[in-house]
Amino acid sequence: MIKLAPSLLAADFSRLGEEIKIIEEAGADYLHLDVMDGHFVPNLTFGSGLVKDLRPHSNLFFDVHLMIENPDQFAEAFVVAGADLLCVHQETCPHLHRTIQNIKELGVKAAVSLNPASSLCGIEEILPELDMVLLMSVNPGFGGQKFIPSVLKKVQRLHKMIREQELDIDIQVDGGICLSNVGDVVTAGANVLVAGSAVFGAPDIKKAVTDLKEAAEK
Ligand code: DX5
Ligand code: ZN
Repeated sequence: MIKLAPSLLAADFSRLGEEIKIIEEAGADYLHLDVMDGHFVPNLTFGSGLVKDLRPHSNLFFDVHLMIENPDQFAEAFVVAGADLLCVHQETCPHLHRTIQNIKELGVKAAVSLNPASSLCGIEEILPELDMVLLMSVNPGFGGQKFIPSVLKKVQRLHKMIREQELDIDIQVDGGICLSNVGDVVTAGANVLVAGSAVFGAPDIKKAVTDLKEAAEK
């Protein structure tokens, strides 16, 4: 079952409530929320306050992508605000096992993300603890970047690792996903697809969701 996770980053921030309603009615599965700190990534977005304000307006699964240093400091605030899943970057977590345990103890799903240049070795030891792995297909920090095709091989290798260990872990891919590459991403083994500009930057948001889901499920 393929899940589509539109990224709020590309939405019109003056009409967030309305745009979220459109993607939900169109059949999106997750709402991908990109949190950036200006340290780990060269951009700033929003904190748990926005998640809290959006929560009563949507039944979507809130998938919070923490592109921040020291995510342990903020995990609880995002859970209290209404996150359903917290995804931390392996590159920011020297004690990744502890961070993942903390997230799970807070009662939500736990995921780890890897930048394009980071090796799968960084998550190999912790794989059985995870609900999802996010492989970045752009360098994190900005929406609207070009998809890095070498991630497809990495998705295949991760898919194989998960299968060999008989684990039940989602593979999410994030960055530059559009109609022309979504099929390749799914074929490689991903089942959760993030799309920012391809959804909220499209002239017809509803149609973009429907078309991407259709192309992904082909
Ligand atoms: C990038 C973010 C992505 C981004 C995706 O740092 O993590 O979620 O918003 O946007 P597109 O789909 O436009 O690449
Ligand atoms: Zn993201």
